[in-house]
Amino acid sequence: MTRIEEFIAGMPKAELHLHIEGTFEPELMFEIAKRNNKEIPYSSVEELKAAYSFNNLQEFLDIYYAGANVLIGEQDFYDLTWAYLTKVHSQNLVHTEMFFDPQTHTNRGVAFDMVIQGIHRALEEGKNKLGISYRLIMSFLRHLDEESAFKTLEQAMPYKDWISAVGLDSSEMGNPPAKFTNVFRKAREAGFITVAHAGEEGPAEYIWEALDLLKVTRIDHGNHSLDDDELVARLAKIKMPLTLCPLSNLELKVVTDLKEYPLVEMMDKGLLVTINSDDPAYFGGYMNENYLGIANALDLTKEQLTVLAKNAFMASWLSDKEKETMINKVEEYYKNN
Ligand code: HPA
Ligand code: ZN
Repeated sequence: MTRIEEFIAGMPKAELHLHIEGTFEPELMFEIAKRNNKEIPYSSVEELKAAYSFNNLQEFLDIYYAGANVLIGEQDFYDLTWAYLTKVHSQNLVHTEMFFDPQTHTNRGVAFDMVIQGIHRALEEGKNKLGISYRLIMSFLRHLDEESAFKTLEQAMPYKDWISAVGLDSSEMGNPPAKFTNVFRKAREAGFITVAHAGEEGPAEYIWEALDLLKVTRIDHGNHSLDDDELVARLAKIKMPLTLCPLSNLELKVVTDLKEYPLVEMMDKGLLVTINSDDPAYFGGYMNENYLGIANALDLTKEQLTVLAKNAFMASWLSDKEKETMINKVEEYYKNN
């Protein structure tokens, strides 16, 4: 391991942008498909992995939803979540704020209860056995209509205590945040925090809408904020976190090369940016690989990496006291390494 690789690996980290369906590793996919008598249209793990080559968000989403098709029972969702937790535990991840996409499953006849109960059981076990604290974010699929999101919110109400926030993901272009104004209002009235994917492929305008109509407390991705100086000034002023995902952006051609990733520019403009993995099984890496990819491409210093790690705790929904504890731990780590 290089010095910077070691530094990243040992640093206590938090992840704020992670889709549990995007952690579905091919090996586990084949195992669960077999258990459930489901066909995967690829003959081997290698053949499936070879299909992971994307020109844009939609090409990825088509494969991502197809992979999720083999998940059926509570145990499947537990196994998926547990595999992610053990993996990131080995990378010194101590806090995760995880998305799940209920409609991906309920639209194929899987009960909402199976999905959330399996995920929740693994998250609790991760907290107790691995010391990973967590929050859960229920994400609406924006290519579906608002009616479907309302129905999903209804299904979530018995599990309100298990879910901290609602989010918005899937195909961005043509599905602006404005489409979900009413269901997000209802979610806020029910006590949910709100976040939204915005400005990954979509324009800066979608980020304005996420702020003004959905009243989000974080922007997921937010790359296109840089097209609008007024927006950047506003995001910086209110310290709105952006959950960036470098390897995802590279794989989905949001950026052509990590060397051109505008991370330092964003930091210099006062944006509260964080590093995340998005869909690690599909994009070639978990947290350490994302930090390392961007660190190598941009020649980041340990100090800059420390700022990024602290930003994630700052932007998390841990209590103020927990945030302070973790930020102190990261600073301590920096001083000693
Ligand atoms: N963007 C939109 N939808 C998604 C993503 C993403 O990066 N990952 C999983 N669903
Ligand atoms: Zn995402």
